[in-house]
Amino acid sequence: MRAASRIEWAVEMIAPQPTDWLLEVGCGHGVAVTGVCEKLVDGRIVAIDRSATMIAAAKQRNADHITAGRAVLETVELAQADFGDARFDAVFAIRVGVFARGVPARELAVVARFLKPDGRFLIFHDEPSGNVEDITGRIEARLTDSRWSVESVRACRVDRSDVVCVIARPGRSENGRPG
Ligand SMILES: C[S@@+](CC[C@H](N)C(=O)[O-])C[C@H]1O[C@@H](n2cnc3c(N)ncnc32)[C@H](O)[C@@H]1O
Repeated sequence: MRAASRIEWAVEMIAPQPTDWLLEVGCGHGVAVTGVCEKLVDGRIVAIDRSATMIAAAKQRNADHITAGRAVLETVELAQADFGDARFDAVFAIRVGVFARGVPARELAVVARFLKPDGRFLIFHDEPSGNVEDITGRIEARLTDSRWSVESVRACRVDRSDVVCVIARPGRSENGRPG
């Protein structure tokens, strides 16, 4: 599957608004960062990856957007990340294995902490031998284990492979905080 078409569909689904604040987890080479920045005016994307090599490549690719203040890229593992006072309209992750195959409780807690109250987390995933039901089921199980609710699921056939998008919101405790 070409990265471009898979990521083009993801950016279409994220539908960034000009003033949005967005967080990408596991940005790799920063292809989605570029696509998102093209839609931003006063908004910003923070993109992280635990690999310094990937962040170096993503910085090179998005140098103009970084200079313009639209993109901030940082080498950090999600579970260790602290975005200070920033609160995001949407957080997204494309092909980041922990959400489909791992135990992402700590990662989901960080995402919940930094989402705006009406913010959404979009998880995009595809696997060479995976099908929509199987991938969706695994992601949903991990979300509900951490008391998230799944708002909707979309799938797109891109270059003969199925890409799943699970859109979720954190559960909130009575005081309105992620809980
Ligand atoms: C398969 S690549 C996908 C890259 C890009 N999102 C794409 O779709 O082309 C997964 C990326 O997520 C990063 N990653 C995986 N787990 C992570 C975590 N817990 N925190 C931050 N980055 C992570 C990896 O270093 C890698 O660059």
